[in-house]
Amino acid sequence: MSSCAPSAKTGDSGRPLVAAFEFPPEFFRRIDESDDADFYGEPRLVTHIDDATIASLTQLYREVLPPGGVILDLMSSWVSHLPADVAYGRVAGLGMNRIELAHNPRLDDRVVQDLNRTPELPFPDATFDAVINAVSIQYLTRPVDAYASVRRVLKPGGLALIATSHRCFPTKAILAWHSTTPAERIRCIRLYFELAGGFAPAEFIDRSPPGADPLWVVLARKL
Ligand SMILES: C[S@@+](CC[C@H](N)C(=O)[O-])C[C@H]1O[C@@H](n2cnc3c(N)ncnc32)[C@H](O)[C@@H]1O
Repeated sequence: MSSCAPSAKTGDSGRPLVAAFEFPPEFFRRIDESDDADFYGEPRLVTHIDDATIASLTQLYREVLPPGGVILDLMSSWVSHLPADVAYGRVAGLGMNRIELAHNPRLDDRVVQDLNRTPELPFPDATFDAVINAVSIQYLTRPVDAYASVRRVLKPGGLALIATSHRCFPTKAILAWHSTTPAERIRCIRLYFELAGGFAPAEFIDRSPPGADPLWVVLARKL
């Protein structure tokens, strides 16, 4: 595997048939295929990107998340990077470690769930105004299923935001992440939204601060 650029089947017109797209079998494999609950069993009360990158993400959240809105922080930990001075109606966090989530002061609801085992989200339809996911998309082995569920739990017009950078836990990132460029990873994320269905075409924003970890963000609205 050398790239996550799509090698989709093509129709008579030569255009890709996205519905027929299949990822190569090794795409979502990982070096460490043991239970995610083991890897994430110990709390990590650390940050995973530079302070300037966090500040840039917080500023983006300030710009695009509706004050008073109901927010889901997917793949959450002890920090959500939401602006401290903005009140949201409710913030739910879903991650792998109960202690990390318990330390997160922004969360009103906390759910421990392995999305690679159970990608269906435990929330009613049309619950959230926005679903954020910070520096974690590379750990999902069933991202299309997870984002089909994100679409279900978003309100019409609701926003899904996936923020990425260049660090990762290498043994738990999907193999595709190790052999792709940042631009190809962004194309993968766009493809996840396209395959999940029901989203407007995704937008890419580069909010990388100078001299710090990059911040590459993909945003898509539920139709
Ligand atoms: C690099 S940390 C990022 C945490 C947080 N979003 C942040 O910005 O600091 C990766 C997060 O992904 C979550 N995660 C990893 N694998 C997961 C899985 N299979 N299901 C649900 N969450 C997962 C972990 O709980 C962990 O908090």
